[in-house]
Amino acid sequence: MRITLVRAALLAAMVGLILNALNALNALPAAAAETAAAAGTTVKIDNFTFTPQSLTVKAGTTVTWINEDDIPHTVVATETAFKSKVLDTDDKYTFTFTAAGTFQYFCSLHPHMTGTIVVVPAGGGGAAP
Ligand code: CO
Repeated sequence: MRITLVRAALLAAMVGLILNALNALNALPAAAAETAAAAGTTVKIDNFTFTPQSLTVKAGTTVTWINEDDIPHTVVATETAFKSKVLDTDDKYTFTFTAAGTFQYFCSLHPHMTGTIVVVPAGGGGAAP
């Protein structure tokens, strides 16, 4: 009887460990899904390229640039609406677009690197009368 109790306790402990391991595995796809959901507001910088090169968002959206290149880059609006500091590898820059419009930007270190953020009105209603 005593042995059975000890075995039951061990079994319970093992089940607990397995459940913890399963929870850890489940956390990974959840994080991946979160990243995918955020992809619509993220611009990757890699290989001297902004990806996507043109991104359309609604007004009020915060766009995040992530430097995944192994050299520094910047994110600078042509019309001075925003300007990042120098972004080293894995650095991020965020800017919240409050007004609708088309915003051209480039990397001030490599001006041939260009991108566009198109901000559409948040309302989603018809055109103004
Ligand atoms: Co650059």
